Amino acid sequence: MFNMISLLINHIPKIVNKTTKLDKQTISKCYGSLPRLTPQEVTRILRSNEFTKEFNGPNSIKYYDTNQLSSNNPIEDTRSEARCKLTNGHLLGIFDGHGGGACAQVISKRLPAYIAGCLLPTDSLKKILGVQKHPAKLRDHLLEFYNDNTDFVSNISKLYNESFLSFLKELAEKSGESDFQMEKALQNSFLSLDRDLSDEALRKLSRSDKARTLSVAMSGCVAVVSHIDGPHLHVAGAGDCRAVLGVYAENEGWSAKMMTVEHNSDNREEVERIWSEHPAIEKQTVIRMERLLGQLAPLRAFGDFRYKWNKEIMSNTVVPYYGESAIPPNYYTPPYLTAKPDVVYHRLTPKDKFLILATDGLWDFISPLEAVRLVGEHMSGKVTLSPLTLSRNNIKLSEINQMLLQRTKGLKKKPLDENAATHLLRNALGGTEYGIDHSKISQFLTLSDKIVRMFRDDITITVVYMDSEFLRHCPS
Ligand SMILES: *[C@@H]1O[C@H](CO)[C@@H](O)[C@H](O)[C@H]1NC(C)=O
Ligand SMILES: *[C@@H]1O[C@H](CO)[C@@H](O)[C@H](O)[C@H]1NC(C)=O
Repeated sequence: MFNMISLLINHIPKIVNKTTKLDKQTISKCYGSLPRLTPQEVTRILRSNEFTKEFNGPNSIKYYDTNQLSSNNPIEDTRSEARCKLTNGHLLGIFDGHGGGACAQVISKRLPAYIAGCLLPTDSLKKILGVQKHPAKLRDHLLEFYNDNTDFVSNISKLYNESFLSFLKELAEKSGESDFQMEKALQNSFLSLDRDLSDEALRKLSRSDKARTLSVAMSGCVAVVSHIDGPHLHVAGAGDCRAVLGVYAENEGWSAKMMTVEHNSDNREEVERIWSEHPAIEKQTVIRMERLLGQLAPLRAFGDFRYKWNKEIMSNTVVPYYGESAIPPNYYTPPYLTAKPDVVYHRLTPKDKFLILATDGLWDFISPLEAVRLVGEHMSGKVTLSPLTLSRNNIKLSEINQMLLQRTKGLKKKPLDENAATHLLRNALGGTEYGIDHSKISQFLTLSDKIVRMFRDDITITVVYMDSEFLRHCPS
């Protein structure tokens, strides 16, 4: 059996099983005597993966904040953000891996390119393929990534570049098919990349390359990716990551608009979909103990081919490497799992202030509405960090007075962290009715590697801020 297989340079994923979650209260009971971190140490840990990117110029996105806190070692969550260079839009995604981090690493680095390819009109695609024959250059031609500082080891990178080139060729051949639809394009990109993961794992390769592609196919990841182009927001989600829009109305205050459908057994529609895809006789076994075949909690995911491949592939490819136990019980009518995303569309208005994307590690601690309120408060607190500027010349004295009052209110809530993702992280771990409890965060951050996963999962958060002025002037 393979365990430690490196796909990324300087990044070695390992196979870890998810543990059951324990009640948070038990932390202090069992581990009350952990070493205490100073506030500075807590802040240093919480901020170590912060990143902020600002955009100038007319755009619906002003800037975004991201951050990650690992529980698994190494972290199984990944994230990526990129600008589509040939179409006009940004892609922001977060990915939550399971059974090791291999699949999530690969998806976060490859999915944006598959999406960018699907967004291109066939004519442009053909033109590019005519000019740019080198697969290594294609991704860079389509996308500009931000804060991307890892590379795949060279054999794997070559294989992935070749797969991507054949995918683009295949797309170019489909010309003249029905009109462009964003939902279809996003679904096509998810499903095509997942199909390529399968093909790559089943191909004849050198022993070490085979180990790598198989470790990707045998691990899994759930994903949520948002595409923002002017006032058009699409969110594609497969699994149980969530995206929520923070909406502000003068009279009603903050509200949370969910932009994802959860694919787990709490969602009745999703359970019925799976029941309908298998014979009635399997109704008792296909979802057991709230999990797919009694094993997998998310009901849609990339990778996880031991819930997708047919029985012949399972016996010929999976069993020799991973043993009989890798085949789930009651494996009669695969595939049981798909990477097909649900796509939610929303036309942004000036009321839509920000979008929060986060893995379930965050949602274990706070609700979407709490997250929206926290980021909303953080926004008004941050205003007081910058000098007062007047947007117009003919501004009335009463308006200035109003702004000053707001700043005074904001000053009371002045946040400790500039980065909104860090603000959420700090509040998720240390939030109490009376504010942030330092000793609670300190406990969460000092749990040993062996037990930390019982109390908190990997957490990844991206907060994208909209430009209300830009949205106000968008033609409808
Ligand atoms: C594959 O493409 C990427 C750019 O998208 C490039 O950085 C990398 O070097 C390429 N790998 C190989 C082996 O050509
Ligand atoms: C890369 O691929 C070549 C050719 O298939 C193979 O001989 C070599 O062992 C591979 N190298 C690594 C580091 O996997």
